[in-house]
Amino acid sequence: MKITVVGAGAVGATCADNIARKELAEELILLDIREGFAEGKAIDIMQTSALLGFDTKVKGVTNDYAATAGSGVVVITSGLPRKPGMTREELIGTNAGIVKSVTENILKHSPDTIIIVVSNPMDTMNYLTLKSSGLPKNKILGMGGALDSSRFKYYLSVELGCSPADLNAVVIGGHGDTTMIPLIKHATWNSVPVTQLLTQEQQDRVVSSTMVGGATLTKLIGTSAWYAPGAGTMSMVESIVRDEKKLISCGVALDGEYGQKDISLVVPVVIGKNGWEKIVNFKLSDEEQAAFNKSADAVRNMNQVLYDSKVL
Ligand code: 2OP
Repeated sequence: MKITVVGAGAVGATCADNIARKELAEELILLDIREGFAEGKAIDIMQTSALLGFDTKVKGVTNDYAATAGSGVVVITSGLPRKPGMTREELIGTNAGIVKSVTENILKHSPDTIIIVVSNPMDTMNYLTLKSSGLPKNKILGMGGALDSSRFKYYLSVELGCSPADLNAVVIGGHGDTTMIPLIKHATWNSVPVTQLLTQEQQDRVVSSTMVGGATLTKLIGTSAWYAPGAGTMSMVESIVRDEKKLISCGVALDGEYGQKDISLVVPVVIGKNGWEKIVNFKLSDEEQAAFNKSADAVRNMNQVLYDSKVL
């Protein structure tokens, strides 16, 4: 399969690096608007191929969408990253225009592709892509939940002193500091509920660290994180390319599931060769459903900005 990653910044380049290492594509196009930038990143990745032993051909291009023709999956990472103290929501004005025009250009050359949206604010950028692309809803996935669930497992593993790989834990809702919902009551360590193993104080610490997982890194690094976002995106690409049917939390269009419509929110979905193939619509407690509805209200308010500013 041919895969394209749009945006060769830290997240896009890390995603491309992970896809190459895992040999998920025969050909991977890395596209950026900055002259020579994606070319440089692609050559740097290719210079690791002898050391790491992968066969994926990574090619960088400057704004040349014709080179992306025939891509089966396109990852959109374009747009400004967060600066310290900034919320993802503050990026909406600039990033909406960028994501909309990237989507139009991609579809001219790959009309049947599956799109993974990474750009922030992810829930609104994914909604924009759903509304503006004309693609079937199953072909559009927002990345945030894969990343946030991995951060959730990391913080749980610190409190439990265990391997993150032995944990089952999902984040739903929005990909925002106040809209994401780490479902701690459903989290297990190889089937043992973590709520039976951690004090309330530990549970609260895990949930709040997860929710500000991205903001903590922005403060430390001075810009948005890239290793975990890049790996989160790769895990979704892998499930598509290998038709793995993995259950991954992703931003998808809801049509009545979890009581919401006309919105993209993060819920557990089965990912395979057709994009997201099924929403796992499980029963939330009254408290969890109320938190989900509150996140939906906040995301809906952000989506309204797209209409108010005539992007949609
Ligand atoms: C994050 O949470 C970039 O939104 C991404 O780190």
